[in-house]
Amino acid sequence: GQDAPLRAWSAGCASGEEAYSLAVVLCDAVGEDAFRQRVKVYGTDADEEALATARLGRYRASAVKGALNSEQVERYFEADGDDMVFRKDLRRAVIFGRHDLVQDPPISRVDILVCRNTLMYFNADTQRRILSSFHFALSEGGYLFLGKSEALVSRTGLFTPVDHKRHIFMKERGARLGRPPFPQTAPAAARAVPPDDLGEMTFENAPVAQIVVDRAGILALANRHARTLFGLGLNQVGRPFKDLELSYRPVELRSRIDQVFNERRPTTVSDVQLTLAGGGVEYLDAYLLPIVTDSETSAVALTFLEVGRYINEELETTNEELQSTNEELETTNEELHSTNEELETMNEELQSTNEELEATNNELRQRTLDLDDSNVYLEAILGSMGSGVIVLNRQLTVRVWNRVSEDLWGLRSEEVEGQHFLNLDIGLPIDELSQPIRAAVTAEGEIVDIRLPAVNRRGRAIDVDVRVAPLRRDGQAPDGAIVLVRQAGEPA
Ligand SMILES: C[S@@+](CC[C@H](N)C(=O)[O-])C[C@H]1O[C@@H](n2cnc3c(N)ncnc32)[C@H](O)[C@@H]1O
Repeated sequence: GQDAPLRAWSAGCASGEEAYSLAVVLCDAVGEDAFRQRVKVYGTDADEEALATARLGRYRASAVKGALNSEQVERYFEADGDDMVFRKDLRRAVIFGRHDLVQDPPISRVDILVCRNTLMYFNADTQRRILSSFHFALSEGGYLFLGKSEALVSRTGLFTPVDHKRHIFMKERGARLGRPPFPQTAPAAARAVPPDDLGEMTFENAPVAQIVVDRAGILALANRHARTLFGLGLNQVGRPFKDLELSYRPVELRSRIDQVFNERRPTTVSDVQLTLAGGGVEYLDAYLLPIVTDSETSAVALTFLEVGRYINEELETTNEELQSTNEELETTNEELHSTNEELETMNEELQSTNEELEATNNELRQRTLDLDDSNVYLEAILGSMGSGVIVLNRQLTVRVWNRVSEDLWGLRSEEVEGQHFLNLDIGLPIDELSQPIRAAVTAEGEIVDIRLPAVNRRGRAIDVDVRVAPLRRDGQAPDGAIVLVRQAGEPA
């Protein structure tokens, strides 16, 4: 039907390419929405390592491009460096699990079974048994895809060829249930035990739960697996089946057994929920098979296949995906954490730089105050001196011009400071000072006293005593000159 589940099985899937190819083909066929709802692709192998690779869904880009058309590559894979990764949201439908083709019960109700290049590892007898379990696994009308060298299938009579060249077979609709998936007879090499015991031993040790109810309604046989699974005691074998809990729990079996006796046809009960002693839930498919002897149904054999394991594996896969998302989140968290730490360190560094700057600032403020203080002090000294004080730098630019100088020559300090002294137009014969000033700023740093005639700011002729002395700091070579000017006859 349109909404019926579609189940595909890649048996011997190795690193998973076949399973993903099945997913791609099925998704192309039914569309993404239906794919998510209806399709399950099981990939199984005996090799855990191969399965771990399969679960990653990651392949070399060249391999993916070699196997699929460009539209499919674009639609189903995401590029990651040189690799391509199968789309995460569709990946949920692909379930990988460990499964041994020789020992484990098959997956049931399979519509498409692909087993390529794997059967060839087994001898003819084992191949026959595996093919028989594939027959059991497939739904009626289900398809079996084999590899090139797996020719034995035609001789088993279990499948009808659909496409010889491509090795595609079909389980016939309305076909009788195939041989049970596990041999009722052991391989020829093991025939040391008498045949009767052999049958019993095989039945007793089969890895699936099997019971037999006879015509009289007595539980005639229950193998070890069945006794463990359903909590049956050996003393319950031989008792009327209807008196046992198993006859109605977990599923009503009495009427179905009657039906098989009457109709002589096998029947199946799917997805029976069995609550386990430990609290878990096991899903079972029950197969009821009439045992016909002398044209009469003498018993009904019930085989219970545990299919719930795959549901658990589905949960496990989801869990794995959640775990990897969690890991990604954790990684991001770690990254944020370390970025945060870096920011915190930077913040601390900035804070300490800030503190240093503040300290420097305070120091500078204090120095400015000190300097202001010194300036006031100096100005007071210069102001209270009776002489005109003129300080020149090495380039003979005026640096200091005190109040007495202002009074004498009628120029304010703002007007002369920064001017070249020899260019000043004042009542002093500056030319005559040129030589002594140059002598003062040279290395020898001579002190020269001279008297000069001058004209003061009121135009009166006066005589002035001038002392030109070198300006030295810390006993170094002079880096300027001091010119002291006093009106002759006035106190210094
Ligand atoms: C050559 S690979 C085939 C891979 C894939 N089907 C293909 O055609 O490319 C054969 C696979 O069969 C697996 N295999 C061998 N014995 C097995 C067994 N008893 N049960 C399940 N798988 C088995 C191997 O692990 C291997 O991955």
